[in-house]
Amino acid sequence: MRTACCPGTYDPVTNGHLDIVARAAKCFDRVIVAVLINPAKQPLFGVEERIGMLRDATASLPDAAGRVEVASFEGLLVDYARRRQVTAIVKGLRAVSDFDYELQMAQMNYRLAGVETMFMTTSPTWSYLSSSLVKDVARHGGDVTGLVPDLVVARLRERTQLPPA
Ligand code: PNS
Repeated sequence: MRTACCPGTYDPVTNGHLDIVARAAKCFDRVIVAVLINPAKQPLFGVEERIGMLRDATASLPDAAGRVEVASFEGLLVDYARRRQVTAIVKGLRAVSDFDYELQMAQMNYRLAGVETMFMTTSPTWSYLSSSLVKDVARHGGDVTGLVPDLVVARLRERTQLPPA
């Protein structure tokens, strides 16, 4: 059984994340979407909300039915990955700006525990997209429809007090 782990903060999930999860599901038998619980960060959405949005969004991914699990983890990713018998961490690379830090983390994770990382090139459709930008646009009243799942649009609207469309 080949297992991919797509770790992240997912505050909130975007269509770019979902593209990577869907493509990982084509290459692996199962995908664990692992949401980091990080007490040092102040996310817009609580971990259970983030997990709920991810579960809703991944449930309808084509050809991935029953093969995507959404879970949370604390502490080192490699410890979680080993516990869950992960074959490889799978990450999306949007641009060269992502590369430096992702390379450092991949090399550290390999050194710590021999855990492999595989990178997928983000679809050009989503190469400019990030959770931070989505939140910023939403906070300022911009329209994020089509960038995140519809449920996330609604939750962002509630959380950032946008008027209904
Ligand atoms: O969505 P993000 O914030 O870019 O995800 C970053 C994440 C969760 C993949 C990274 O911060 C992480 O793996 N954190 C867990 C703690 C850890 O293992 N740190 C050492 C990384 S080499």
